[in-house]
Amino acid sequence: MYRVAAIGGDGIGPEIIREGKKVLDAAGERYGFDLAWDDFAIGADRYMETGELVTEDELEDLARYRAIYFGAIGDERVTPGILEKGILLRLRFHFDLFVNLRPIRLLAGVPTPLVGKGPSDINFLVVRENTEDFYVGIGSRFRGTEKKTLTIERELYHARFNLDIESDAEELAYQIGVITREGAERVIAYAFDLARERKKKLTSVDKANVLSDVYGLWREVFSEVAARNPEITTEFTFVDAITMWFVKNPEWFDVVVTPNMFGDIITDLGAMIQGGLGLAPGANINPGGTSMFEPIHGSAPKYRGLNRANPIATIWAGSMLLDHLGEQEAASAVLRAIERSIAEGVVTKDMGGHASTSDVGDYLSRSILKG
Ligand code: IPM
Ligand code: MN
Repeated sequence: MYRVAAIGGDGIGPEIIREGKKVLDAAGERYGFDLAWDDFAIGADRYMETGELVTEDELEDLARYRAIYFGAIGDERVTPGILEKGILLRLRFHFDLFVNLRPIRLLAGVPTPLVGKGPSDINFLVVRENTEDFYVGIGSRFRGTEKKTLTIERELYHARFNLDIESDAEELAYQIGVITREGAERVIAYAFDLARERKKKLTSVDKANVLSDVYGLWREVFSEVAARNPEITTEFTFVDAITMWFVKNPEWFDVVVTPNMFGDIITDLGAMIQGGLGLAPGANINPGGTSMFEPIHGSAPKYRGLNRANPIATIWAGSMLLDHLGEQEAASAVLRAIERSIAEGVVTKDMGGHASTSDVGDYLSRSILKG
């Protein structure tokens, strides 16, 4: 038996997680294990009521699980950034989920906007660094009348940042990106391990031609890890160029490792070439601790409660969760069932079908139990 924590969150989050649990339960029944779900009421509703985002007690509780199944966060009643930073990023940082693994894979029968490309062309993994870069939350802004000197102190990765900025500018804002050797090395090494199991080819993303301090360090570390892995073919790409190659020659890629912010951007592009955000899963991984599985898409508040949202991204993330728990057979069965539902046309409106969110969940569960 596995205990799994579930956070439905906001918008369509609860309904897609409901279907995800249903399908994973069916996989458990078929492959001989039980999942015990513990729900956490983290999200906008509670925040509106009590002002709480994630409590210290919850962090302590969540640390006891190997896996968290996460729906989506984001609500029109709350200023953008509060829930995203206070919940999603908080969990990624607190549990040091330094790998954000995002498969970009076109399933059979799913249309891609890339003319002439098919499932054999679009099948790679993006390994997004998930704790550093421009996501570290060091920044500030000030206006003309304020004293034009800034000092910030911030403890991070055993470093203290003291920053004095003098400026005559009317208004000024800054935000700092941080890459540490440790932070780059662990995620790059993880990507090399994945590449070794696949086609032995790894692409690194950066913008070292302009942001030469942060991504200069990233490149240096990549080269060092590459030297220890001579059997893996490697290449560097700049982030602007890789967006072009994702569209023009996606078949070129097998494993792609990227700093945090570029990873955020290129995986939305990746989601589109694999058929849309409704089909794009992600896993936030700490190989030695609690990990968290979620769709790449957001909470789509417009569709909340309508039973219309596409649950596939979440269910696919559930397959990654099972894989993480060591249930490889069940994980593949979930993915096969998704492919069958597409072949049979049991899909939601965004994919041209008539099925509801729960129809898809029901179909997948039945299909796994039969299979
Ligand atoms: C994602 C999202 C998040 C990110 C936001 C909601 C904080 O866009 O998971 O890709 O930027 O990482
Ligand atoms: Mn994103």
